[in-house]
Amino acid sequence: MRMLKQAWLWFDDLTGVSKILGPLLDHPVPKARKSAWFYVLGSATLIAFLIQVVTGIALASGYVPSSGQAYSTLQFISGAPIGRIVRGIHYFGASAMIILIGLHTIRVYLMASYKYPRQMNWLSGVALLLLTLAMVFTGQLLRWDQTGFWSVLIAAEQAGRVPLIGNWLGHFILAGDTVGGATLSRFFVAHVFLFPGLIFLIVGFHLYLVVHNGISEPPSVDRPVDPKTYRPWFHALLAREGEPFWPDAAWRDVVFGFLVVLTVVGLAIVVGPPMLGKPPDPSIIEATPRPEWYFFWYYAILSLIPKWSEALVMVWGPAIFGAALILLPFVARKGQRSPLRRPWSFVIVAAILFMIAYYGEVGKIAPWSPRMEAPPLPVQVVGVTSGPIADGARVFHDKGCEYCHKVSGYGGIRGPDLTYAGDTLTPAQITTRIYSGAENMPSYRNNMTSDQLSALLAFLRSRHRQPIEPPPDSGQ
Ligand code: HEC
Repeated sequence: MRMLKQAWLWFDDLTGVSKILGPLLDHPVPKARKSAWFYVLGSATLIAFLIQVVTGIALASGYVPSSGQAYSTLQFISGAPIGRIVRGIHYFGASAMIILIGLHTIRVYLMASYKYPRQMNWLSGVALLLLTLAMVFTGQLLRWDQTGFWSVLIAAEQAGRVPLIGNWLGHFILAGDTVGGATLSRFFVAHVFLFPGLIFLIVGFHLYLVVHNGISEPPSVDRPVDPKTYRPWFHALLAREGEPFWPDAAWRDVVFGFLVVLTVVGLAIVVGPPMLGKPPDPSIIEATPRPEWYFFWYYAILSLIPKWSEALVMVWGPAIFGAALILLPFVARKGQRSPLRRPWSFVIVAAILFMIAYYGEVGKIAPWSPRMEAPPLPVQVVGVTSGPIADGARVFHDKGCEYCHKVSGYGGIRGPDLTYAGDTLTPAQITTRIYSGAENMPSYRNNMTSDQLSALLAFLRSRHRQPIEPPPDSGQ
């Protein structure tokens, strides 16, 4: 013990690190009585990031970032017992980091800790939030399966819609015209060197600011922020009732951080990393590409919105949200911090969480992909058990129309709902569509007999808002 202490004193004498670590550990923090546990989210995010760094280094040492070997090296890693656990930790660690940084952002927003003098704390935090999203996004492609492939293509398409520089941006992301080996190299470098390096730098700045400005005190209705008097008032508060971060407040961070590590490692061992999807191969069409859960909601929205609004949602939505995040601490730099006096903040947080949860749930059923398991239409939907209408209903199922089209609640939602096709479409329109297909619908020109077509037409024309009695001779 004494030896250790002497070694430390010797090291500190030569380096002076205690001058840097000291303030980090025992800077005074305001006593947060009831809300104390809300303050552990930032350090827990940092712990999740460090988990990612350690497991990421381990994974990178067994992974070959080339289009020929990426998939098979990952398969090899997942097959080894330790490799499986390490990949699992990296996988659940990413989810943990997303959840924690999200909660941390919400906490800071609801308590309006971004107000004077902590605007730079907020801005560096926004940068860290975006970098975290960039990390999970680039990480997806490294798996080099259908899902990663497909999400990058969508992102490139999205980038392509940005005015003026869109084309260049799309090419920049893909490192070419399409997803290939060059894309993989680019994503690997971003995921392993560029983004983590930036995160380290900005986390350092963020922590420096935490010490420099002090941790915000829990908001109170009768203490609005006045930039002119805030600092002296805050220092007086710390002198009066502050406590050193270590150990008076930090034990909570330690306990919570430990729980985070325990949960992530536990999930990695018990549940394990997700199976790798199919290797990327443009000739496989039956894959159901699925982004990670934290992107579900976004892909669901993209696949459900009408075409005219795509640019709005893909470009202007993120741009406006980003601008709001950046402007917030300047527009609302002083005044009330208490969420009780800022009821809108609750509404905004609830709306965002609802959108993520609701569309995330929609995204789970992957509306963008055909429903291969749709059962044949039951007789109460079809209305008859034999004759051309019943035959048509069978064709509708057997030819896969039902994979993409809903009728009375049965089937997929990739194409338009055909429950009332008899009211909205003429036989000629239906025939043309079946023969020529569409952007997301195959052509059945060479894949359907004229008998099948007329049965299908009879069935679709019988889909009315008011069920029409079948003519008496329909059962022949
Ligand atoms: C892979 C999915 C898919 C399959 C399979 C499919 N469709 Fe479609 N269908 C679509 C999509 C997507 C559209 C919308 C195309 C557009 O408007 O650009 C569409 C449009 C249509 C329309 C026009 C609807 C309207 O309101 O304009 C009809 C009719 C139709 N399909 C019938 C069929 C029939 C009949 C079959 C089976 C023989 C079938 N579809 C198979 C995806 C599919």
